[in-house]
Amino acid sequence: MDEIFATARQALLCCSFQHKQMLVESLCARLQAEDFDVTGDSPVIPVSNVGRPSIPVLVPPTEVRRRRLGSVEGRVALIHAVAHIEFNAVNFALDAIYRFRGMPRQYYRDWARVAYEESVHFTLLSDRLRQLSSFYGALPAHGGMWAMAVATDYDVMTRMALVPRVLEARGLDVTPGIIDKLEMVGDHETVLILQRILREEVDHVRIGNDWFRWVCEQRGLAPLIVFKELLYKHGRIALRGPFNEPARLQAGFTEEELVELKALEQEFREQLQPVTG
Ligand SMILES: [Fe+2]
Ligand SMILES: [Fe+2]
Repeated sequence: MDEIFATARQALLCCSFQHKQMLVESLCARLQAEDFDVTGDSPVIPVSNVGRPSIPVLVPPTEVRRRRLGSVEGRVALIHAVAHIEFNAVNFALDAIYRFRGMPRQYYRDWARVAYEESVHFTLLSDRLRQLSSFYGALPAHGGMWAMAVATDYDVMTRMALVPRVLEARGLDVTPGIIDKLEMVGDHETVLILQRILREEVDHVRIGNDWFRWVCEQRGLAPLIVFKELLYKHGRIALRGPFNEPARLQAGFTEEELVELKALEQEFREQLQPVTG
């Protein structure tokens, strides 16, 4: 019996957000209640086209317009971009369940809870868009977010290293600055939503950190060395600073890792700079 994985796959491929959220809720309930089989006997298929609505139109990140937060238009653009990240985060969490078999039961429970919380984040932001006379899908959105899921689909350790610890952890770095700007323009409703998201994202990154270290331990590997190797392999573009060190420490990064991350980020930034003259 591998109903858990079948449901996770169904939720992952589902295009309607409401239906996806219902499936996530049922998955959470079953994972809490049942002594489920963690091996699953169905083949795991690569998922390059996960379920999402027909809009927003996906474009390269350079074509996603940014506007000043002083205008409603600017805030709508920002909230739309964050809602898109949250929608993708639901799929990331579902894929972490569906793809990687044979992990401890708590791993599946943790990622089902993350999927649920991401779906709540998405709902809060899409409701906020409606209050501002817009909706999710009204603007073009970043089309490259799923690429890291595809690049890391071969191994749970690689996925844990690069999705929660690089992509989700980036949210911890940038969200406080966005909250400050929104506070300055008096958008308290959006501030409250982003404060909640920030609190819960610390826990998502912690879950990623815990499972990354657990797999390293099982394989007799040193987490710091593995992480560095994986960043060289997949993370040159994704790793960005400056880092929110208190939040990252709270989310389970070590002081030693943060020192290493800062050095690597600088190294990658210098490599990516265009050669002039
Ligand atoms: Fe989130
Ligand atoms: Fe998250």
